[in-house]
Amino acid sequence: MGSLVALCVLTVVLGFVKTELQNKEFTLGGNLTLKPAALTSSITSITWKHDDNLLAEQLTSDSKPDYYPPNEVRISLNFKTGELSIIKLTEKDAGKYYVEINNVIQNVGYQVKIIKRVTAPTVVVPPLACSETSTNCTVDCQGDVTGAGTVRYFWKEDDGDWKESAKRKEIKNDADMQTIKEFFCKVKNSVSDEESPATKNPFYKPETSSSVGYIVAGILIILGVIVIGAAVAYKKGFFWKCVQKTYKTTGKSYAEAAKLLIKPKESNSPATGADGGSATEPAIKSDPAPTPSPEPL
Ligand SMILES: *[C@@H]1O[C@H](CO)[C@@H](O)[C@H](O)[C@H]1NC(C)=O
Ligand SMILES: *[C@@H]1O[C@H](CO)[C@@H](O)[C@H](O)[C@H]1NC(C)=O
Repeated sequence: MGSLVALCVLTVVLGFVKTELQNKEFTLGGNLTLKPAALTSSITSITWKHDDNLLAEQLTSDSKPDYYPPNEVRISLNFKTGELSIIKLTEKDAGKYYVEINNVIQNVGYQVKIIKRVTAPTVVVPPLACSETSTNCTVDCQGDVTGAGTVRYFWKEDDGDWKESAKRKEIKNDADMQTIKEFFCKVKNSVSDEESPATKNPFYKPETSSSVGYIVAGILIILGVIVIGAAVAYKKGFFWKCVQKTYKTTGKSYAEAAKLLIKPKESNSPATGADGGSATEPAIKSDPAPTPSPEPL
């Protein structure tokens, strides 16, 4: 008697295992493919059922599959692998799918949901509740998620990482928050995800001390470049004028006039060759301009 009860319980348990369904979500308008669990032998006959209705069946390897209703053109069955495919899914394709292979109902079935893709959300900042002077406020990631199944929400600040969070998010007007320029949110379901455009953080303060510091540093660098540039230009111009003056007063060529200016010591004895040059050359770059002063102007 006890063993009979045990057998009944076992049967019920096995029966339950047989009808256990795996959840699957597919996109409305998209395609579905369902595979039987690993096969132990090759298929000699196969039947797919949708809820309690016959959907696709092929009873011998050399026959063609039958589909139901017979005018259904969206379904296809692969006799070798047992895979069932349906294209252009509609909401009516949702439900329970069972497969029977070689006259044995398989212990893996599917509970199919047909869901919509999510649409791009927007971050909504309530204008009255969220001003620069608020201590805190709640921002909302709004998008159309009807028929999209289970959705998850993610948030991002400026170039930061996406972090999973709730649809609505409280932000506090503190020093950290004031450094953030923009928010983004993202909605995700099992078949799609979409990001919002950037939304301005109502608490952002551009004039923080560090940013002022960067601006001041930037201005100083630019000023420095201008001053150095002007000095170089001035020196070059000055040197050139001296060359011209020397050219006019001495009647020498520009090149010789320039040499005279660069090597003032040799100017009195032009015969001096190049060997004196190497000794005086290091002085050239440090002050080429003051040298023409002995020349008559
Ligand atoms: C669905 O399957 C058909 C036929 O195989 C293919 O042409 C189409 O691109 C598929 N659609 C999607 C969204 O994968
Ligand atoms: C947020 O602000 C409201 C009033 O604007 C206040 O009642 C609430 O306590 C604040 N929440 C936090 C966490 O500071």
